[in-house]
Parts: sequence; structure tokens; C-alpha cells
Amino acid sequence: MNNPYQEAWEAFNRQDLDAKVDFYNRDGRLFDVIVSQQFDREILDHLCKLTTHMRLLHKTERGADLIQSLLRHKRAMLYFVQPSTRTFLSFLNACQILGMDTSEIRDTATSSEVKGESPEDTIRTFSSYVDLIITRHPGKDFSEKCAWVLNNSNRPTPVLNGGSGQEQHPTQALLDIYTLQRSFEDQGGIDGKTITFVGDLKRGRTVRSLTHLMKNYRDVRIIFASPEKFRMRDDIKEFLDRQQISFKESDSFREVIPESDAIYMTRIQDEHDDAEGGKSERFYREFSIGLPELELMKKDAIIMHPLPRRNEIDVNVDADSRAMYWRQERNGMWMRAALITYIFHKDEIVLGESL
Ligand code: NCD
Repeated sequence: MNNPYQEAWEAFNRQDLDAKVDFYNRDGRLFDVIVSQQFDREILDHLCKLTTHMRLLHKTERGADLIQSLLRHKRAMLYFVQPSTRTFLSFLNACQILGMDTSEIRDTATSSEVKGESPEDTIRTFSSYVDLIITRHPGKDFSEKCAWVLNNSNRPTPVLNGGSGQEQHPTQALLDIYTLQRSFEDQGGIDGKTITFVGDLKRGRTVRSLTHLMKNYRDVRIIFASPEKFRMRDDIKEFLDRQQISFKESDSFREVIPESDAIYMTRIQDEHDDAEGGKSERFYREFSIGLPELELMKKDAIIMHPLPRRNEIDVNVDADSRAMYWRQERNGMWMRAALITYIFHKDEIVLGESL
């Protein structure tokens, strides 16, 4: 039976990325944030500058008061139906810093989906009450579909993707860029750096989203270090080839440590095992960092991790000045606060405030 609505969605979804990116933008600005390919160098630099400005401005009582008054008239919905600690809490705290009220659903068992309501109707319902929707969902197209549903409704509401399936985590990519840029501020920025991604590169969405952004920087080199069965998928390698970004794959992490400026660790994403049949190892000693691996690192290199970690970074590494993952986590809150400020066109007000 024909279902024009479903057909329209499928036709939208079949389009290439450039057309979709246009659909997510409005008046030459980001409106929805769905995929990391939406960010160009100009917006990355703008958001990094805004993040630093907000972070520093907030240290004074006057600055914190001003920031708190920016979006007091706006409300956000956090629809997080896949496990999350950092992304959820950093978005929630970002909203609170900006004076926004929030509501949340973290389990479909507590919403009307249990009565048979479609996820699209559930999302449409949120837009009746709030001004911003932030989603985390196991489905790879979920946030995209939300944006499509709402942009076609009479109450378009921005959608921010807080992680979808194994594919995309665009706001994590933003905070990762901010962490890289901040860490390499005195070393010429991200341009010219070698970034090594380690672990489950096949199923981790953070590495995929961040890799897309490397086309915005000059002379970046990428190394993918993973167990054979978790190698980076071909689509990303083809993308790097097309962009003429130099990369190599390695099954020996220790060998590539000395040439790395940033080491981006990830955990094995074994929650996806069932979909692929069979159980994977939860930990590979050869793809982890402990005190012996620290000895092999450059003096000014950094270690990142989107977290949560298991054993791939020994807790003894935390005290090393090159361990950047706790700062990276905190950067996430400030970057998300900056992004929401930008989405509601308040960025110039913040940047106009002297520190
Ligand atoms: C990541 C995720 O959910 O993709 N976590 C996060 O958002 N910081 C990484 C992971 O779960 O391994």
C-alpha cells in the first residue's frame, strides 16, 4: 500500500549529503546538528572561540549571571533512549548554565511509545512543549528523521544529535576538536599533527565523526591502530583518499606511539556484538596505554578518550600531564553550551562581552 509520508521520507533520505546539509541549515547557519559533515573550518573556529569566551566569562559572577539570562525563556527536551552519562549530563548542565528549563525521557518504557505511539509522533509531541530537542538513539537515522519531521511541520524545532547508532556523534566531534585545538594552541594548532585512533574503529561513532572533520585542517596525518577485526570501515578510508588526507593502518599500537601527537583511545563496542553474531573480547592489552607506553610517547603529545573507559587506559596514566580525557569531558559541557548559544543566535552577545 502507498504511504506518501514514508515515501517522502525515503526520498529525502536517499539524497546525497550536501542536499541534506542544506536542509539542516537555515539563513546560512546551523539549525539542526545531525552529522559532523555540517561543520566547516569557519564554524569550527567560531564555536571554539565562543567556547573559550564563555568558559572564561563564566568565571566571574557578572559573566555567569549574563550567561544564565541568555536563554531563560527557552526550554529543552533531552530524549536519551540509549545509555549515556557524559553526553546527557553535559547537555543538561549546558542548558542549566544558559538558564534553560529541561525535561527528559531516558527510557521508552516510560513514554507513550509503550502504548504504540510512533517515535515520530513522540518527537512531534516534544516540539509542542519545548524549543530544542536533543536525542540519543540506537537507530542510525533517528535524529535525521526527527529533523525531517519537525522541519516539515508548522513548528520547526532544532534537533541536536547526541549520538546515533554506530554512525554519528557530531557534538562529541566538536568537543574533541576543541580539546585538540586547546592542547596544541602553542604548537600551531591542529594543522600538521599526527592523530592516532586506537581500539574498536569499526563500530565506534566518535572516531568516525571526528575523522570527517580532519578535512578542515592542513597536513593532518591519521593512523588507525586496531585489532584486525575492528579495522576502520572502507567508507571512511575512501573519504580520506578523496580528501587526500594521508593515513595508515597498523596492527601494532606500540610501534606508532612515538610518531603520534594525539592518541585517541576507544573501548571495544561490544554492545553491538549480537547484531553481528558472536562475542568479542572486551579488552586487548596490545591496544591499551599503561606506564610502559607513556615512555614511548612524545613529551608534548596528548591522550584523549571519549569515555567511558574500561582497561584501555590504566588509571595510573591519569596523573600524567599528557592525559587529557578528564579535561576533554569538561570541555564537552562548555562546547555544548556554546553550540546551544549559537543555535539561538546569542553568540555575538557573548563575544561582545569583555572578559
Ligand atoms: C561514546 C558514545 O556514546 O559513542 N561516549 C560518549 O558519548 N562520550 C563512546 C563510547 O560509548 O564508547
